[in-house]
Amino acid sequence: MTRREWLYIAGGVCLGAISDSKAHGGSAASELPATTANRTSLREAAAGRGLMFGAAVPWKQVSGDPPFGDLVAGQCGILTPELELKWEALRPTAHDFDFRTAEFLYQFAKSHQMLFRGHTLVWEAALPSWFAATVDMGNAKQVMLEHVSSVVSHFAGRMHSWDVVNEPFQLEDERPDGLKLTPWLRFVGPEYIELAFHAAHEADPRAMLVLNENWLEPENFATDQKRGAVLALLTRLVKNRVPIHGLGIQAHIFAGTNVTGPGFAKFLHAVEDLGLSIMMTELDVRDNSLPGDVATRDAQVAKQYYDFLSFMLQFKSVRTVLTWGLSDRFTWINRHNPRKDRLPVRPLLFDAELRPKPAFDAVWRAFEEAPKR
Ligand code: G3I
Repeated sequence: MTRREWLYIAGGVCLGAISDSKAHGGSAASELPATTANRTSLREAAAGRGLMFGAAVPWKQVSGDPPFGDLVAGQCGILTPELELKWEALRPTAHDFDFRTAEFLYQFAKSHQMLFRGHTLVWEAALPSWFAATVDMGNAKQVMLEHVSSVVSHFAGRMHSWDVVNEPFQLEDERPDGLKLTPWLRFVGPEYIELAFHAAHEADPRAMLVLNENWLEPENFATDQKRGAVLALLTRLVKNRVPIHGLGIQAHIFAGTNVTGPGFAKFLHAVEDLGLSIMMTELDVRDNSLPGDVATRDAQVAKQYYDFLSFMLQFKSVRTVLTWGLSDRFTWINRHNPRKDRLPVRPLLFDAELRPKPAFDAVWRAFEEAPKR
């Protein structure tokens, strides 16, 4: 555990108490349903076990919806900008950087004694409109390294961790190493990954550097293949002394699916055996395949949160749990993967009225039952 994390967690336990008054978007504990009346802040529940809980949120929702901002302030001990540290937000032109919205979220996090984590330095998505016409084989390496160095230097000393490379794998692209045929791979070669990690470490030696990947959780043959490719890369990076400190498990999972199987457990143990930490970076639980009845959906989503978190928290290197959003009022899933019956999805811990759901209690219980870090 880094000194900064220790200080944060030590402080978080008392801060959690202070933030009680804001725990649920300003509602007093007495207004909470009986099951959660004595449960206020997930930040406090996590800190009590040596864990950190937080969420990814965009600045527009935090600044434009004060009750939602209060909920985030009361519940989170670590914050990830959902959009504001991606190229699309940071890079208005090939020669300029615009840190304003990222700095807004940093100041929001700092004002509530939260840690701040960056997502993401190198990805093939969320790229600005000028990118395709500007970046090619001749300049991609220099463009990438300048971006990583400039952005990480700007936040040096203020960042808990960075998702240095996001989702670099796609076995359907049929490369022996399983890497995705992104512009970075095509223009720089597979070494773009280690180059990015070295540049990030040089710009901020204190930040924890993470490779962030999706769809590693389900128990099936295809995922086993992907886990094998990820483990091979992580093993090579560690062997070559690349400054990588952790694997980000995005954990965009589905209710009712097996995401706590032996294949995933074996993979996570192998990652820890490399000396890497495991971070839960984008947790949400999709209810798309469940019947429309809200009580049924909420109960099954809550069960999946409890089962999955209980499984993940058995791995002692897991100290940070972030959900991707905090309230069903704002979730990427409604846009990206709406339910066939067009009912609003309910993947998060608080409903669209910012009230705690059974999933909130489920996460609370998983934290309370977790081995203390
Ligand atoms: O804000 C504009 C709006 O003004 C415009 O009208 C609208 C239609 O063009 O677009 C809006 O911006 C969208 C933004 O989300 C806010 O809704 C972008 O087009 C859209 O690309 C962006 O999608 C985000 C996506 O990453 C790409 O950055 C999602 O919200 C975000 O949840 C998603 O997050 C990713 C992680 O970074 C990586 N892991 C998977 C995860 C989910 O896909």
